[in-house]
Amino acid sequence: MTEKTQSIHGQWSSRFAFILAATGSAVGLGNIWKFPYITGENGGGAFVMVYLLCIAVLGIPIMIAEITLGRRGRQSPINTMQTLSEESGVDPRWQYVGWAGMIAGFLILAYYSVIAGWSMAYIVKAFFGNFINSDAEEIQRLFENLMANPVQQIFWHTAFMMATMYFVMQGVQGGLEKAVRFLMPALFVILILLVGYAMSTGAYEQGMNFLFNPDFSKIDADAVLTAMGHAFFTLSLGMGAIMAYGSYLPNHVSIAKTTFFIAGADTVVALLAGIAIFPLVFANNLEASAGPGLIFQTLPLAFGHMSGGWLFGLLFFILLFFAALSSSISLIEPAVAWLVENKNIERHQACVWSGAACWALGVGVVFSFNIWADLKLFDKNLFELLDYLTANLMLPLGGMAIAVFAGWMMKTQHAEQELELPAEGFQAWRFLIKYVSPAAVFLVFLHVLGVL
Ligand code: TRP
Repeated sequence: MTEKTQSIHGQWSSRFAFILAATGSAVGLGNIWKFPYITGENGGGAFVMVYLLCIAVLGIPIMIAEITLGRRGRQSPINTMQTLSEESGVDPRWQYVGWAGMIAGFLILAYYSVIAGWSMAYIVKAFFGNFINSDAEEIQRLFENLMANPVQQIFWHTAFMMATMYFVMQGVQGGLEKAVRFLMPALFVILILLVGYAMSTGAYEQGMNFLFNPDFSKIDADAVLTAMGHAFFTLSLGMGAIMAYGSYLPNHVSIAKTTFFIAGADTVVALLAGIAIFPLVFANNLEASAGPGLIFQTLPLAFGHMSGGWLFGLLFFILLFFAALSSSISLIEPAVAWLVENKNIERHQACVWSGAACWALGVGVVFSFNIWADLKLFDKNLFELLDYLTANLMLPLGGMAIAVFAGWMMKTQHAEQELELPAEGFQAWRFLIKYVSPAAVFLVFLHVLGVL
C-alpha cells in the first residue's frame, strides 16, 4: 500500500459525503436562476444545445482533472498547483492558476450572495401569501419593488453572507454535509411538481419547443461564449472550488464515476428548471428575455395559482436558499484554505476577513440594480461586469489552464495513479483533456474576438 497524503483541513467522511458536497456546490442559483434567464436571453434551443455540448466535452473532463489535481495536491488550489508543478518539474508559475481562481471565487460570491439574498426575501413574501391569486403584473411589481430597495437587498445580502461564513467556519464536515442530504432530493421533488403545473398551463409545448428546438440563426459568438462559460459556472469549475473539495477526498474513491453523477444531477436540475419556467413565460405573455428577474417573475405565478401553492412556494424558496448556500461555501473555501495555510491564522479569522471583503463588493452589486444602474463600463453595470468577467472569461480560461496542466504537465503515471480507470477510459479522458477541451475553449475565444 502506498502512503498517500491527507489535507490539514480534514477529509470527507465518505465518498457519499464528497458527492453531496460537490453536488451541493454544483447545484445552485446557476441551475435555477441563471440557466433559465440566460437561455431566455439567448433564444432558447440552440443555446441549450451548445451548453449541453460544453458540459460533455469540457465540463466532465475538466471536473475529473480538477478533482484529480486536488486529491493529489491535498491543499488549497494555490498550494496544490505549486506542489504539483514541483512534482512534475514544470514552471512554478502554474500556481497563478490557483490565484486567479481564488479571485474569481471571490468576485462571484460578491454577486451570488446578493441574488441568494433575493431568494431569502422571497421566502418572506411566500410566507405572507404575497403570491396568492396575483396576476403577472402584480408579481412583476413585487420584484421591481425589491430591486428599487437597496436597504432591503443589503439586509438579505448581509444575512446570506453571514450564513455562508458560518458554514465555512465549521470546516468540511460541518452541518451542511448533513443538511444537503435531504435538501437536494426535496428540491428535486418540488421542481417535478412545478413541471407538472407547467404542463397544465396550455403553453407547455411552446415552452418545450423554445428549449429544445434549436434555431442556430439565433445565436452568435457571444451566445456561444455565454453557454460555454455557464457550463463552467454551473459545475463550479475553472476556479479551484472542486479542486479544493477534491483535496478532502479520501483515496481510492472513483473520481470518474463521481463526476458523472454530479454532472448528471446538475444538468437534470437545470433542465427541469427551464421546463418549469418557460411554459409560464408563454402562458402569461411574459418576456423570455426578462433577465435576472426571470424566475422571480414567473415561478410565483405558479405558486399563486396551484393548489398547495402557499406551502410549495415557501418550501421552494427555502430550498433555493439552501442550494445557494451549499454553493456559496465552495466559492470562498479556496481563499479560506489558503489563508489558513499561508497566513498562519485561524479558520474563523480567515472567514471573517474574506467574508467582510466580499460583502463590501456585494453592496456595490446591490446598487447596480438601483442607484448605480446607469453606471456602466463597456455597456455593463457592476453586476453584469462581474458576471461577464468571471463566468465568461475567468472560468473558461482557468478551466483551459487546468486542462493543459492535467493533460500536458502532469506525468501520465501520476494521473493514472489517481484515476485508477480502465485503460480505454483513461485514454478517452486523456485525449479530451489534452486536445479537445483546450482547443474548444481556444476556438470559442477566437470566434468571439472575430478572428475566426
Ligand atoms: N455552481 C454553482 C451554481 O450553479 C455556483 C458555484 C459554486 C460556482 N462554486 C463555484 C461557480 C465555483 C463557479 C466556480 O450555482
